[in-house]
Amino acid sequence: MVETSTEMDAPPGSLDHILRSTDAIRDELGVESVSLDIVRDPALFEREREAIFGKVWLKVATEWELPRPGDYKVKSIAVADASVIIVRGKDGTVRAFHNVCTHRGNRIVSSNDFETSGNARANVFSCRFHGWVFSTDGTLRSVPMEEGFGSLDKDCLGLKEIACDVWQGFIFINFVDEPDQTLGDYLGDFGKLFAGFPYHEATTAYRYSTVLDCNWKVALFAFSEGYHVPTIHAGSLPGFTGLEHTDFKLMGPHASSTIYGGGMDAAQSTNTFAGLLAGSPLHKPKPDQLPPNINPMRREDFQFEFPNIFPNFLIHLAAGCGYPGMAYFTHQFWPLEHGKTLWEGINYFWPAQNAAEDVAQRHVNALHRNAWLEDTATMEDTFAGIMSGVLDTVELMDLEFMIRHAARTVRTYIDV
Ligand code: FES
Ligand SMILES: [Fe+2]
Repeated sequence: MVETSTEMDAPPGSLDHILRSTDAIRDELGVESVSLDIVRDPALFEREREAIFGKVWLKVATEWELPRPGDYKVKSIAVADASVIIVRGKDGTVRAFHNVCTHRGNRIVSSNDFETSGNARANVFSCRFHGWVFSTDGTLRSVPMEEGFGSLDKDCLGLKEIACDVWQGFIFINFVDEPDQTLGDYLGDFGKLFAGFPYHEATTAYRYSTVLDCNWKVALFAFSEGYHVPTIHAGSLPGFTGLEHTDFKLMGPHASSTIYGGGMDAAQSTNTFAGLLAGSPLHKPKPDQLPPNINPMRREDFQFEFPNIFPNFLIHLAAGCGYPGMAYFTHQFWPLEHGKTLWEGINYFWPAQNAAEDVAQRHVNALHRNAWLEDTATMEDTFAGIMSGVLDTVELMDLEFMIRHAARTVRTYIDV
């Protein structure tokens, strides 16, 4: 399948082998036009369902969403025709189950939304159809009028478990019963490069989601490059100057790069709030908190680390350096249909300690939301243009290498 590294004989602990110069990127990924068939062709989307979303590890939750025994969330994953319960058991372990009652297939937890919101906690899960009761570890606990079934092997009728593992507090599932790769193996060098950041401390989360009329890769690609920042974000980020997009990294199916630059604090109001957060030991820029191989020179003009975790998860590390006071933000792109995608964006901040910090964070969050509106506004237009059939290929420059890499990875998985 996909290699996890190209040079395995690098010194232990060093991640130098994943770094690429622009020339190396061009040599490895090529410079030719890239075919649009993987975006345009509904038949290829059908292959992606099984060969990608049915096979690889997918992030579905975070540990800090489910801090206590019995805390759970339900997530609908249309691309896998699945509804998934993710729950912390009484033993503290997080597990994932198909949200399907083993009696006659009813949903255990009804949910019409893409995911349950807010905190939900259960001692047990009880199916409202006939009252079968399941423990939070999935075991079938009780069956009303059990004697009426003749013989019932309750030990074999627990909720159907889905492979589930945790990396740095991010909870991933895999729909293969016995996945070929562990989560650690799948993440490979990405897992090492991004480990150690205190993700769990940034517990103030602002969430956004919307359904976009575009293929999921159009959304992924739009968030995979910084080339567009000076143009599409001229409205929300007028002070963003001196963009330097560098430190290219390839890590098997995953890739990343770093954005350094002059910042984005032109508006007077933003300067005021940025200053307030910069003066706080908790919220000030903390490049030293970054994992050692990200911004290894500890440059003060670091803005973001900018990775794609294949297939649909992005963690943009800022450590308070990019948007003022923001620890990191994430994106996910969930295919609903060939031309319909659920986008989820979450901004994570360290908890405000007073009202002034809270207002400052909300200002920064709104600034970023506006940038996201500018980003998402291009996606339906781009997809419509692609689907018109006028172009068979697109041109990609060096700063768009993660699009080239993701497109190649998709082709490898679906074998075209
Ligand atoms: S379908 Fe759940 S108890 Fe009957
Ligand atoms: Fe953008």
